[in-house]
Amino acid sequence: MTRRASEVSLVAHGGAGAVGPREERPERRRGMLEAIRAGARVLRQGGSALDAVVATVVVLEDHPLFNAGYGSLLNTDGAVEMDASVMVATPAENQAARFDVKAGAVAAVSRVRNPVRLARAVMENTRHLLMVGRGAERLARRAGIELCRAEELISPRARKRWRERMARQGGAGAAHGTVGAVAIDARGQMAAATSTGGVPGKMPGRVGDSAIIGAGTFADSLGAASATGEGEAIIMATLCRAAVGALARSNPERVARRAIASLIAPRGAEAGIVIVDRRGRIGYAHNAGSMQVGIYDSRAGIRQLWVEPLTGRPGS
Ligand code: GLY
Repeated sequence: MTRRASEVSLVAHGGAGAVGPREERPERRRGMLEAIRAGARVLRQGGSALDAVVATVVVLEDHPLFNAGYGSLLNTDGAVEMDASVMVATPAENQAARFDVKAGAVAAVSRVRNPVRLARAVMENTRHLLMVGRGAERLARRAGIELCRAEELISPRARKRWRERMARQGGAGAAHGTVGAVAIDARGQMAAATSTGGVPGKMPGRVGDSAIIGAGTFADSLGAASATGEGEAIIMATLCRAAVGALARSNPERVARRAIASLIAPRGAEAGIVIVDRRGRIGYAHNAGSMQVGIYDSRAGIRQLWVEPLTGRPGS
């Protein structure tokens, strides 16, 4: 059966969290637009949704103002430990209703410039889903993914903020989070990718939702989702899996709002989510102070937004 060409779209987030310093906004905006342009280029040239979300997230990982890759938040020991994951749902050849679904993830890696690339290598080069530690780094070497010294990923800004936080309150507190992207390409493949340095005040060895398929990242025949925010609450809610499942009954905009509202009531947690469905429709919502979103679709082109929180967020 021939499959109709899908509407192409891409949505990225730069993390939900506290409203960051105003003077950083222009540079964060530039960074997000550069990331969306990288993903949009892939889709415009007929590339895959997976290539598009990875290209988008790599740009955000390389940018020092986003909490992923270079510029990641530091744990209480003052070290970088990063989580990342990817998931992709590809229409099966000649079977319009079937999708092949694959995923890969890494947790608490310290020596990889682009953890999202390593998560993809886990998916494509191994029989496993989630890898950590020396084995993950060995895979990076084998897959030709750049390794570096752990200190090279610590930006002066991240070090300064860590010192201030540790002096103030033992390291805890709100901050801009995780980056991620979801996309659908012209052949109907849907993909999600998420990458993070974690949350402020995290202990060495703590793993968040961005490494957990179903929590921080999910894709299947209905759509794809990527989350940001308080990982513990997102994992307990299996947020992205639940949101994508709800696309069977509703549109991405409503699903995103309900997914975030479902976290507010029982746990008082702060989180955000971006979603794309198989018709190329998008949705995003959060209940933190601020969430930055970048969007590309073939009708409206590229744009960047600071999304207002849902009302009813804790403390408002
Ligand atoms: N959502 C990022 C984390 O909890 O690590």
